[in-house]
Amino acid sequence: MNHLQSWPEPVVRVQALSESGLTKIPDCYIKPATDRPSPKNLDDTHINIPVIDLQNLLSNNQTLQYETLSLISSACKEWGFFQVVNHGVSHELMKQARETWREFFDQPLDLKQKYANSPSTYEGYGSRLGVDKGAKLDWSDYFFLHYMPASLRNQSKWPALPQSCRKLIAAYGEETVKLCEKLMKVLSINLGLGQDHLQNAFGGTKDIGACLRVNFYPRCPQPDLTLGLSPHSDPGGMTLLLPDENVSGLQVRKGNEWVTVKPVPNAFIVNVGDQIQILSNAIYKSVEHRVIVNAVKDRVSLALFYNPKSDLLIQPIKELVTKDRPALYQPMTYDEYRLYIRTNGPCGKAQVESLKHR
Ligand code: OGA
Ligand code: NI
Repeated sequence: MNHLQSWPEPVVRVQALSESGLTKIPDCYIKPATDRPSPKNLDDTHINIPVIDLQNLLSNNQTLQYETLSLISSACKEWGFFQVVNHGVSHELMKQARETWREFFDQPLDLKQKYANSPSTYEGYGSRLGVDKGAKLDWSDYFFLHYMPASLRNQSKWPALPQSCRKLIAAYGEETVKLCEKLMKVLSINLGLGQDHLQNAFGGTKDIGACLRVNFYPRCPQPDLTLGLSPHSDPGGMTLLLPDENVSGLQVRKGNEWVTVKPVPNAFIVNVGDQIQILSNAIYKSVEHRVIVNAVKDRVSLALFYNPKSDLLIQPIKELVTKDRPALYQPMTYDEYRLYIRTNGPCGKAQVESLKHR
C-alpha cells in the first residue's frame, strides 16, 4: 500500500484558508457546474427526514410501540435517514462534546498540525479524502479517531488539548455506542430477525468498529461553487451524526432532489451505511448525502461510525435471501471495502453498486 503512505499534494487547511480572508476560493475547490449546490432552496419546504421518539419503544401502549417500529422501518427503506429524540444520551454530554471540538479547531494551527494524518490510517487531523492528484477538494477539515475495537483505541492520538477532550471523547464514545447497540436490535427486529441477529452479523459487540470523525466546515466566501462534503454514502454499518445546533448543511438525496435536514434540538441523525444495505440485501438503503457550506458561519458535526468487525466477510443475511430475492452482493470484508473511499474519495454510491453480482 505504498501509494497510501502520503498525500499527493501539500496539505492546505481549509480553516486557515478561510481565516486568511480571501474573497475567491482556489480553483481546486470549485466543483463542475452540475455538482454545485442547486440554487433552488429546499430549506423553505416542509419536507424533513422522519423524527422518531425512541422512548415510545418502551411504552406500555403496544400500539404505540408497533407504530414506532414501523416508522423506523419505513425510514430505513424510504429515506435511509431519520432523527431520534429521547435516545438516552445525555444532552449535556452532547453539548460538551460539540464545544470541546469547536475549541480544538479554534486552537492555533501548529498545535493541530501535531496530529496531521496520512492516507494509510486516516487517524488524526485531515483535510482531504482520497489520494487522486489534482482531484477537486471539499471545503472542510476533520479529525478522525478510533474508539473501538479496544485494540485500536489509542488516546495518545486523540487531542491532548482542550484538557477535557480525551475524557469527553471516551464518555461520548461509550454513550453513542450503547445507542447504536439499541438501534441494531430495532433494525434486526424490523427485518424479521431475532433481536441480536444483525449485531451477531457485525461480529458481536466487542470486536465491532466505532470511529469518530469530527467535521469542521469553515465559512466560505463562495458557497455556491463548492461543497463541504461531496455526495457519498457512508461505507460502514450505521452512522450517528450530531449536527451543529446553529447551522444546517446536511442534504439527503430524495430521488433527484437534495433535501436539507432540519435538525431537531438534542436529536441525533441516524443513517444506514453500505454494510447494512449489504447485510439486509438492500431492504434497507444506504442513501447518498452531501454537505453545503455557508458564507457567514462555521459548522461543526460529529459523525460516529458504527462498523462490523473489520475482517469478517459481510454478505446478505441468509434469512433475507430468497428465490424471489437472490443475494444482490458479493461477500467482502469491511477492511477491504473501506480502502475504496480512502483511495478514491467520496463517489456517490459507486462503490456499493460495484459489489453487485453481474
Ligand atoms: C460524514 C457526513 C455530514 C455532516 O461525516 O460522513 O456525512 O453533516 N457528515 O457533517
Ligand atoms: Ni456521510
